[in-house]
Amino acid sequence: MTSEEKDADTTLEPQFKQENGEVYRNPTEVQMSQIVLPCHANHCWELSVGQLLKWMDSTACLSAERHAGCSCVTASVDDIHFEHTIGVGQVVNIIAKVNRAFTSSMEVGILVTCEDLYTDRQWKVCHAFATYVSRRTEAGKVQLKQVIPHTQVEQMEYSLAAERRRMRLIHAEIITDLLSSSTAQLGECQEYEDAVPADKTRVESVELVLPPHANHQVSTFGGQIMAWMENVATIAASRFCNAHPTLRTIDMFHFRGPSHIGDRLVLKAIVNNAFKHSMEVGVCAEAYQGGEPLRHINSAFMTFEVLDSDRKPRTLPHLRPEPVDGKRRYKEAIARKKIRLDRKYIISCKQTEVPLSVPWDPSNQIYLSYNNVSALKLMDTRNNWVLTSEKNKVRLYTLEENHTLCVKVEIYVGVPAEQAFHLLSDLRRRKEWDRHYEECEVINQVDEDDTLYRVVTPSVTKGGKGKDFILLASRRKPCDFRDPYLIALRSVTLPNHPPTEDFSRGEVLCAGFTIWEESSAVTKLTYYNQATPGVLPYISTDVAGLSSSFYSTFSACSQFLEANNDSQGVLPPSAF
Ligand code: COA
Ligand code: ADP
Repeated sequence: MTSEEKDADTTLEPQFKQENGEVYRNPTEVQMSQIVLPCHANHCWELSVGQLLKWMDSTACLSAERHAGCSCVTASVDDIHFEHTIGVGQVVNIIAKVNRAFTSSMEVGILVTCEDLYTDRQWKVCHAFATYVSRRTEAGKVQLKQVIPHTQVEQMEYSLAAERRRMRLIHAEIITDLLSSSTAQLGECQEYEDAVPADKTRVESVELVLPPHANHQVSTFGGQIMAWMENVATIAASRFCNAHPTLRTIDMFHFRGPSHIGDRLVLKAIVNNAFKHSMEVGVCAEAYQGGEPLRHINSAFMTFEVLDSDRKPRTLPHLRPEPVDGKRRYKEAIARKKIRLDRKYIISCKQTEVPLSVPWDPSNQIYLSYNNVSALKLMDTRNNWVLTSEKNKVRLYTLEENHTLCVKVEIYVGVPAEQAFHLLSDLRRRKEWDRHYEECEVINQVDEDDTLYRVVTPSVTKGGKGKDFILLASRRKPCDFRDPYLIALRSVTLPNHPPTEDFSRGEVLCAGFTIWEESSAVTKLTYYNQATPGVLPYISTDVAGLSSSFYSTFSACSQFLEANNDSQGVLPPSAF
């Protein structure tokens, strides 16, 4: 099996047999298979990405509508990375299913694979997440029914969907903040003699929205708009390099307002910046009818490469931006490149591929906190934990996988879940029950839900150095009763807190609490820790059965929570 084929396998859920012996199929799942014909391809005999986006949007929309039972529109599509191109004669297989429904919106996961009919090979092309919103009725906003996850993969996607939604809804705000702070740090654009003037790449094109471009509710299909946007972006990119460009990434984008049959859609594109091997093309879609003013429908940023005959990216020429707006976009493209890399590597890397301590800075905060929370959620959805020891209802579980050891401690406490969440959220109070927390200080209260701490733990050997950890703590309240309260911890590096001689720097890859409400007065508390070499000495004696310090620590935790059960007005760390 090639690595590409393996890749396709890992994202496809293994068949899940139900008790009655039948293979389980998600009720919202919709599949589409298309053979790529010359009419779907560009002049290089490759499937045009615009056509693929139309198929992806139709499949995902049908899945959303199957769940909603009413008509839905595309609200947004998260970043898409295209790993491969698809040739004429190959088959595109698309599977879409609703991961989670919120109030009137749903996250739909879309997996695209390509199949070569002559060799029987299959490989992954991309995995995308799109949000669909059910159309308002006369009675107002629709309240969708909940999705009930059945398999471990569904449970995981359900849980992560809430975290992705959080990121999506603040995306525009985050990008605006990051662009204004990062572009201020960039100097003047460099002048190059042989640079290609940006104006040469400018494209403006109009489309009339006709019935085949719209659904039965006369709204323009989101996929059709994306396809038109991709078309003008490809023209701009080709003008820049005088060659055939390959689309690699489309940044997360949002359909700001609807478009209907009869609209004239004006699509404008220009190359914003060119880097060594890639260029950013920006596209803007606006609509009008008759003499009405233009309505801003969408803006997207697409990254193209130019491949040589060995499919390696070619070195690109420099770009000379237009004055004022062009220079601003040129700088913003540099800032977006960093944001894109952070997003790609921090969010979508498999947990084992993420470096232990990622440097923290305000520009990657949102992605690091996503990574922090999603790693803990992934641990929480695993169902192959092995009970290693139990003492007075304090249970210690382990999970050994991919050469890592994870531990989980589970206890029930007689405190409401929200109170336990507040008490455990402030890491400075942990020394009241955990002797491993000798000192703990807040370094930076990043926002209401995320805090950077420095924690000092005692030495495990006599006369040895203590350890210190720089931790990002991310706290989350549940979205609904199927979510826990959650406090996720991971190490980060901070330039102004380098390791010192007095302590050896320890690292936490993934740790934290999930807090489930069992009843109004009883809470299930689960503590997780993925053992890195730095924390292994603290837990290996317990796992090996040589001690039961987990028991004394978590009994003390339970006593701490119960003793503070009635403390009024417990404040989050942000309030200190
Ligand atoms: N990404 C994902 N979901 C988003 C979003 C975004 N950028 N912006 C809003 N939403 C979600 C909200 O979270 C909310 O979900 P919930 O009901 O589950 O909580 C839902 O959209 C509705 O939000 P609301 O605040 O009631 O409405 P709004 O004024 O923000 O409108 C749209 C949101 C998507 C309905 C509106 O922007 C729109 O009509 N866009 C065009 C959609 C379209 O026609 N697409 C096809 C191509 S034009
Ligand atoms: P901004 O101008 O802040 O980048 P817009 O949403 O107005 O954001 O536009 C998105 C992108 O569309 C721009 O970055 C640019 O690449 C492209 N674009 C916008 N206006 C034009 C135009 N008049 N001609 C060509 N391309 C344009």
